[in-house]
Amino acid sequence: MSVNAVVGVQWGDEGKGRIVDYLARDAEMVIRFQGGDNAGHTVINDLGKFALHIIPSGVFNPETMNIVSAGTVVNFTTMGEEIDNIEKISGRSVDNVFIDRRAHLIMPYHCLLDGAEESKRSEGQKIGTTKRGIGPCYSDKASRMGLRAGDLLDEDWLKGRIELLLPKKNRDLEYYGLKTFTVEELMELCRKWKDRFGSYIIDSAPVVREAVESGKKILLEGQLGIMRDNDWGIYPYTTSSNPTVAGACNGAGIPPKAIDKVFGVIKAYSTSVGGGPYMTELFDETGEKLRSIGGEFGATTGRPRRCGWLDLVAADYACYMNGVTDLALTKLDVLDSFETIKVCTGYMIEGEYYSHLPDTLYQEKAKPIYEDFKGWLCDTSKCRTWEELPENARNYILEIEKRLNTHITYISVGPERDQLIVR
Ligand code: GDP
Ligand code: IMO
Ligand code: MG
Repeated sequence: MSVNAVVGVQWGDEGKGRIVDYLARDAEMVIRFQGGDNAGHTVINDLGKFALHIIPSGVFNPETMNIVSAGTVVNFTTMGEEIDNIEKISGRSVDNVFIDRRAHLIMPYHCLLDGAEESKRSEGQKIGTTKRGIGPCYSDKASRMGLRAGDLLDEDWLKGRIELLLPKKNRDLEYYGLKTFTVEELMELCRKWKDRFGSYIIDSAPVVREAVESGKKILLEGQLGIMRDNDWGIYPYTTSSNPTVAGACNGAGIPPKAIDKVFGVIKAYSTSVGGGPYMTELFDETGEKLRSIGGEFGATTGRPRRCGWLDLVAADYACYMNGVTDLALTKLDVLDSFETIKVCTGYMIEGEYYSHLPDTLYQEKAKPIYEDFKGWLCDTSKCRTWEELPENARNYILEIEKRLNTHITYISVGPERDQLIVR
């Protein structure tokens, strides 16, 4: 069996896209297992530079079957734009992407409600969502008021579903003073989606099962990171799904025992986009320096990312929760010019020492305890082997590895596909 998962072990934007792109060179199947077009997975390879939102990062290998699985939420309008864009930049047609019929549809009212709900939250309570309709769409899924990709293929059924749910949706939209929809308007949109994407919609269950049972190489691609997991993250500042390996099994239809390796992607420092506690955030010029050298601006929204030092307590929690077998440490090169590098090894909360990650309200009060590491003050971006890395960088990596008790298998020293050290 060869099913490997790639998950974010921080607050998202760890570099999952670039790692999946690298690993997908010989993957037969890549499955995006949760989330929607809130993702911004940057991939730079010989075909160009891409910001992927819902399309799996295995799309660039024509031999790879890419599945947007049951656990996802899909906006076919933005998916169409994304595919057009990939085709324009790469000069290749995208014909290796399929959508499971169980994936939920992000409807125009979900996007409107996402923005409206956020506008009602007070400054301190804002989640800072991507306004892609993710939360409202997953809410409808949970309350059995959702529409699914497969519904597009049966017009009578679809119409019945829209007639059932639209009065309630329109009441919600009216409450916020927003535009309401007619059944015919939504049916028209759905017909357009079906015309373009009808043939991409499949029942992935037998296909994935066959791939698992015949030992094909499968990669599961997570969106976001565990710190914004709806159960184990910084609720309510979370996304509405589970970007963990448990979410991968559920979302992709893979039994837990089939998972071989879990690659946890971790930045050599940390970033967070949106609201909620973030204990190692730096508000000074060091944070500014990480942002500018790391190019830390959202791939989906362009928002400046909050930046800070690596939080080993949060990372340890993430490694445990995900059963991470291997780490991929990204953006090491961003630290090249820092004389001192800090890592957080514990917190003080209301006078008490914490060596574990507490829940949200305690995180709000946490003061990080740091240990210092000596920087290496030289360029690592051209290193391609472990031996080529400066000694202080190796020490930094070995210490992270030791404290997380997890092997660091990949070290990336730049955004391009080959800027990677395999250990
Ligand atoms: P994802 O959402 O986890 O796929 O990560 P993002 O693509 O949102 O953010 C990672 C950013 O860092 C992107 O701009 C990547 O091109 C860039 N990147 C990835 N790995 C490296 C690296 O090792 N060094 C540098 N300098 N940039 C990297
Ligand atoms: P990738 O896959 C970073 C954050 C938003 C917000 C919260 C909920 O590129 O790592 P949502 O729109 O999902 O309801 O927003 O989660 N968020 C992300 N932060 N990277 C992402 O994706 C994100 N997707 C959502 O900022 O705080
Ligand atoms: Mg991203």
